[in-house]
Amino acid sequence: MAMPNDDLTPAPLRVVQWTTGNVAHETVRAILERSDLELVGCFARSASKAGLDVAELVGLDAPTGVRATSDVTALLALKPDCVVYTPLYFDADEVARILRAGVNVVTSCEFLTGRSLPPGQRELVERAARTGHATIFGSGMNPGYSAMLGAVGAAISRDVRHVKISESVDVTLFAADSNMDALGWGRPKGDANHARDVEHAVRVFHDGLDVLGELLGVRDYERRCVVEFAHATEDLNVPGRDIRKDTVAGIDVRFIGMIGGVDRFELHQRWVMGTKIDPPWKVEHGYLVVVDANPRIRMKLDIWPDLDDLSKLDVHEMHAIGMRITGLPLVNAIAKVCAAEPGIRTYGDLPLVSTSLAARRRGA
Ligand SMILES: NC(=O)c1ccc[n+]([C@@H]2O[C@H](COP(=O)([O-])OP(=O)(O)OC[C@H]3O[C@@H](n4cnc5c(N)ncnc54)[C@H](OP(=O)(O)O)[C@@H]3O)[C@@H](O)[C@H]2O)c1
Repeated sequence: MAMPNDDLTPAPLRVVQWTTGNVAHETVRAILERSDLELVGCFARSASKAGLDVAELVGLDAPTGVRATSDVTALLALKPDCVVYTPLYFDADEVARILRAGVNVVTSCEFLTGRSLPPGQRELVERAARTGHATIFGSGMNPGYSAMLGAVGAAISRDVRHVKISESVDVTLFAADSNMDALGWGRPKGDANHARDVEHAVRVFHDGLDVLGELLGVRDYERRCVVEFAHATEDLNVPGRDIRKDTVAGIDVRFIGMIGGVDRFELHQRWVMGTKIDPPWKVEHGYLVVVDANPRIRMKLDIWPDLDDLSKLDVHEMHAIGMRITGLPLVNAIAKVCAAEPGIRTYGDLPLVSTSLAARRRGA
């Protein structure tokens, strides 16, 4: 538990980063930039990373003074206020152990409501949180923050008939990321099991639909998932993926919430590997909220590099932006999650999550 300083400014919340992959590169930077957060520890799953300064693991020049460790007991003994949990896969036993120790968790990892976890795991996590009087909150850009965007878009109309949030992007730059493995890029056309496998691979979007429903005032609803594919019109040159002519190079996944048999809200993802695909799907290169209501709303979230001269933009920074918009909803939620009621909490439970202008950069 954070203690006040002499000047009655609350002491920074003590944060442990759990693994140091793509998203963690951004959460660590964001934590270090905040005066209300203090990085006190870091978990390394890979033995080769244990003992190294976090700066080395996330590509920072100046040492942080925090060394990664694989010793969970030692990390929990630090009595952190919160763990930023960003491994590739959600480990319910590991998360339950953190929560039982009274440590809050924010995560981008396959968890928002826990609905899409294997049987029994949601209950395990919920029980652990209650036991430890701790809170777990899941987000990321999509699923996660995108639900909040939809809710904001729907807030100024009456007679709201349908709310749709679309993520529509060329994912070529992310092709080599491990979380793309299970999507089946390059699988042959007409593979009968592919749609089922895609739904399973991105089943956490069912959680995202739950959060959107909750924000729109719906808890009980029917759901369906519709998956469609586009195919490469020639062999593609995509770093990290082998995508040949007539194999899958575009995936369109719709998670739809229905009330009384009628479609009422939707999380729509359209991911393409370039433009040489059939059908020639267009992408918006961003996030679009469309609310069918009175009045009708169309809200576009364009995301731009923080550069005056776009010729200086490189692929590393473009990839990093994707990870930044995934990680920042977690870091920005830490204080509210630490103050929340124990249990599984979503955007429907927390006060509005945004940045803190007052938590200025160290040294700024
Ligand atoms: N909602 C969203 O908007 C959104 C967007 C992007 C990503 N995500 C999710 O965020 C999480 C982190 O993504 P990421 O791109 O940062 O992941 P990543 O870099 O591929 O992996 C993160 C860390 O997970 C550990 N790891 C690697 N392989 C593993 C395995 N087979 N089993 C268990 N752990 C393994 C590694 O820890 P060590 O380095 O310590 O060995 C690695 O650094 C993923 O669950 C991803 O799906 C969500």
